[in-house]
Amino acid sequence: MAPLLSVKDLHHGFGAGGTRLEVLTGVAFEVASGELVALMGPSGCGKSTLLNIIGGLLAADSGTIDVNGSAYGQQPPYALVELRRATIGWIFQDYHLLPHLSALDNVTLALELAGAVMPEAEQRATAALERVGLADRAQHRPDELSGGQAQRVAIARAIAGDRKLLLADEPTGNLDVATSREILELFHELCAGDNELSILMVTHDAALAARADRMLLLRDGCVAASDVESAWGDAV
Ligand SMILES: Nc1ncnc2c1ncn2[C@@H]1O[C@H](COP(=O)(O)OP(=O)(O)OP(=O)(O)O)[C@@H](O)[C@H]1O
Ligand SMILES: [Mg+2]
Repeated sequence: MAPLLSVKDLHHGFGAGGTRLEVLTGVAFEVASGELVALMGPSGCGKSTLLNIIGGLLAADSGTIDVNGSAYGQQPPYALVELRRATIGWIFQDYHLLPHLSALDNVTLALELAGAVMPEAEQRATAALERVGLADRAQHRPDELSGGQAQRVAIARAIAGDRKLLLADEPTGNLDVATSREILELFHELCAGDNELSILMVTHDAALAARADRMLLLRDGCVAASDVESAWGDAV
């Protein structure tokens, strides 16, 4: 079976001339359908840059991304609006929820912006909140939720559009150990569901990364290892 995500020989740098910084220098890896992959690496090594390119928010200098049959890499973000909307969900460390809207309205609004109409948008948002275990908090605003609950709302928003790939940039960075593990368990449940979701998750937490299906280590611009044991040493 073809992988859900395939990254080939990706290069990206910032700046020009003497201040030019080569960040990604030939990144290549694949993520299978239904797989939860952790991405680790030292601060500043290019993890967020890599996610931004995979997410279609930043054009690479060279190389190819293939997600669910769509190939891109050097296209500017405006050329990939439809791909991003239909295929890729994002989760961030600080949730990015709208503070004045309830959990349900945060998820519903995202679906409406993606083209869904009422009342179907609200029905799908309710179903997404149920999938992340938050049906009983649907009417709460973000400041009435715990950090773990707020992140679940953000996850519901990311999956509500039936997207195939979730990109998570340090999704547990603000959460304690127990809550982080719960979020990871939720990720496993979502990946194991029938809609073949795949998740690529950046984390600085080696113990959490060890609970993913597989771990990638980004170092010196390349993916240097793809198993947990070889990265336990000095990598983190
Ligand atoms: N827009 C930009 N312009 C210039 N340099 C940038 C830009 N974005 C990122 N960089 C540089 O590229 C390198 C990689 O940054 P990136 O944010 O991808 O790292 P990271 O691995 O996500 O780090 P962290 O773990 O701290 O989040 C850093 O040296 C950063 O300073
Ligand atoms: Mg980062």
